[in-house]
Amino acid sequence: MKFFLDTADVEEIREGVDLGVIDGVTTNPSLIARQGKDYQKALEEVCEICKGPVSAEVLSEDFEGMLVEGRDLSNIAENIVVKVPLGANGIKATRRFSEEDIPVNVTLCFSPTQALLAAKAGASYISPFVGRLDDISTPGMTLVEEIGAIYENYGFETEVLVASIRGPVHVLQAALAGADVATMPFAVLKQMLQHPLTDKGLKKFLSDWEAANRNFMTEKQ
Ligand code: G3P
Repeated sequence: MKFFLDTADVEEIREGVDLGVIDGVTTNPSLIARQGKDYQKALEEVCEICKGPVSAEVLSEDFEGMLVEGRDLSNIAENIVVKVPLGANGIKATRRFSEEDIPVNVTLCFSPTQALLAAKAGASYISPFVGRLDDISTPGMTLVEEIGAIYENYGFETEVLVASIRGPVHVLQAALAGADVATMPFAVLKQMLQHPLTDKGLKKFLSDWEAANRNFMTEKQ
């Protein structure tokens, strides 16, 4: 299973990459806007730090605009994956990009039939948004399971990239569902490291060792 960071914050990406468990990054216009930087410059910085796939989303909504912009984005760095939204123009652009060997991440997926269209168009990744489905009382992880079953039935190579992850339980559920990738906010990665029993256990190991050492030193004197 691959872990991507869902952020455009270079400090977070640097820290995640240093940890040695981050395989790629996903960005979107909202995440880049939060950094207050030029769109292209922000992506260049991310690609400098993370050598794995970096998803960069087109801002155009029309087919021609998506093509021009996607090609420009893919020229930023070798590891750019062009992100396009679902819809007729996004699917058409995905087909065209796949013919040009430009990898595509189809985003804003909320139904299994949308995911089927993305796979047929040649997407490298499909991004089901689990958190946003949960928000409207629809179990997001069911979508991930259904996409996985459909792709398995027909041998589609499109990778299931679980997005809109809100906490470690989403990562757990994505792993149990056999998703290829989980993209998560940096805060979720940090939460995954934590367990109170780990902290408590470590404290005890160290205090036991210190006590034993103190006794040993006293006996020697
Ligand atoms: O990768 C998509 C993700 O950024 C959306 O997350 O939490 O805004 O639904 P969220």
